[in-house]
Amino acid sequence: MANDQEKEAAARASLRFVKDGQVVGLGTGSTAAYFIKLLGEEVKNGLRVRGIPTSVRTRELAMSLRIPLITLDDCQEIDVTVDGADEVDPQLRLIKGGGGALLREKIVASATRQMIVVADASKRVQRLGKFPLPVEVIRFAQALVAKRIAALGAEVQLRCDAAGNAYLTDENNYILDCRFGEIRDPDRLAQELSEMPGVVEHGLFIGMASVALFACGSEIVELKRQ
Ligand code: 5RP
Repeated sequence: MANDQEKEAAARASLRFVKDGQVVGLGTGSTAAYFIKLLGEEVKNGLRVRGIPTSVRTRELAMSLRIPLITLDDCQEIDVTVDGADEVDPQLRLIKGGGGALLREKIVASATRQMIVVADASKRVQRLGKFPLPVEVIRFAQALVAKRIAALGAEVQLRCDAAGNAYLTDENNYILDCRFGEIRDPDRLAQELSEMPGVVEHGLFIGMASVALFACGSEIVELKRQ
């Protein structure tokens, strides 16, 4: 599939940002998984890195590839993180959380010197908001928070798993998928959501990504945050 090839190509292009001896944040999702598999090959060939996973499933994948892992308790600064995104705008503002890992992803990104986003061409947008914005909420507050977000103009849906049960994050919270349509002012929305009691974290990543690598067919487009 073209998208999968692009995801792998973008992940491969990110390898050059990872240097021997570094602490590496390991993202979550199908594109990040390509990166982790490629990193596993590099480790097998002698690259020394220590990874910090952003989800339980990423931790399991990295362990299966024998990538040495540490936690944020062992190291509070991460040299480089490679992660995917659901949407990326020209200012490298992101929507993340389609895979449900936005909370740990944002914590890891916030502790990272250089965050590299890897994506297929479909993730590059002029304006954020076509992809429903994931908002992680504590279960106690989900109905109240859903109402408050709806009052901001979004169509809000509690995320469910394949069996129809409410999806639980790695931190045992719920996710509300919020369709805003085009988000005119992502910075303001991020602020409003952050100030809402009951919101644990939202999927707007602003001022975090340093570089985005998009694969468009066989070409890699690199964007840097100004
Ligand atoms: C997980 C994420 C993912 O990075 C995002 O959903 C992109 O996933 P994929 O690479 O599978 O398209 O934010 O929480």
